Amino acid sequence: MPFSTTPRLGFVGAGRLARCLAAVWSRAGYPVSAIASRSAASAHEFAGELPQCLVANDASAVAQHADIVFLTVPDDSIGATANALRLDQVRDGTKAIVHCSGATPLDVLAGAQAQGADIGGFHPLFLFGGLPSDQTRIAGCSVTIEASGALHDTLTELVQALGCHPLSIPPGGRLLYHAAAHYAASFALCSLSETVTLWKELGFAEDDALRAVLPMLAGTIETAREKGLPGALAGPVSRGDAGIVIKQLALLQDLGGDHAALYALLSRRAVALAKRRASPPPAQALDAMSHAIELVLNGTGPSDD
Ligand SMILES: NC(=O)c1ccc[n+]([C@@H]2O[C@H](COP(=O)([O-])OP(=O)(O)OC[C@H]3O[C@@H](n4cnc5c(N)ncnc54)[C@H](OP(=O)(O)O)[C@@H]3O)[C@@H](O)[C@H]2O)c1
Repeated sequence: MPFSTTPRLGFVGAGRLARCLAAVWSRAGYPVSAIASRSAASAHEFAGELPQCLVANDASAVAQHADIVFLTVPDDSIGATANALRLDQVRDGTKAIVHCSGATPLDVLAGAQAQGADIGGFHPLFLFGGLPSDQTRIAGCSVTIEASGALHDTLTELVQALGCHPLSIPPGGRLLYHAAAHYAASFALCSLSETVTLWKELGFAEDDALRAVLPMLAGTIETAREKGLPGALAGPVSRGDAGIVIKQLALLQDLGGDHAALYALLSRRAVALAKRRASPPPAQALDAMSHAIELVLNGTGPSDD
């Protein structure tokens, strides 16, 4: 049976993601009917920002007042929260329990499913900072849905109400999907952290380094948006400057630690991107880089052969 066109939405966990989604959906005409959280203070603060949102004692009480309940607790608490749910009022499959974790498989919601609820995953590809600006910045992002039937359709409408793009993920794919998504979020920060660490060797202050790299990253993102990943690739690999890549690998090996290994792994990906450019660099240059990269990754030096 389909859900109502504006199902009542409930939340368990009044954190950063829930506050943003609830505010935007409420403004779009979806009733956010109930909230429960670990602390009463958080729940009351959440409810105070919304019209007619009830503060409930626990997840089961939220489910009594909502058609779709979003479990927006930390990932490690989703299973226990779902298992404690008592769904007394499930009728004709019109009740759904949904979590928002990227990595957690849907089978943590099996207890709710056994009580007749539809289950789903709803993962916004967005970093919620707990700021009011989240509510506007989320527009244009993508949200990955794992659900079937009427729930999939309704979650797709909820994605559109956020001004976002829906993506569907096949059953069982969440762990790989989420591992890959790190590269666009926390691992991008890790790349910047490597820049700052290496520049500190030259005496750069961390603040100066960060001020320098953030606009570079923003420009790279804009270029990728316009030209795609191979087209946006810059730097020595994109030009076929094998001599520079080989010297930098050797320098980073001399610095010790894992600096050369990280540079080599990312350069391997850069070579793959360079080969996809409309005008790729000469194959001979890419082969020379690849050879040096593999020597580093095999534990020998780029010029040790
Ligand atoms: N933040 C992001 O960028 C982001 C992005 C995509 C997906 N997600 C997913 O969204 C979910 C929520 O993440 P978040 O970042 O919003 O977390 P968060 O800001 O840490 O908020 C979690 C909320 O859950 C409440 N809570 C904790 N344990 C609870 C329990 N056992 N029962 C009821 N409430 C409990 C917290 O308690 P209090 O009552 O003490 O406040 C807090 O309000 C996670 O599954 C996460 O993977 C987050």
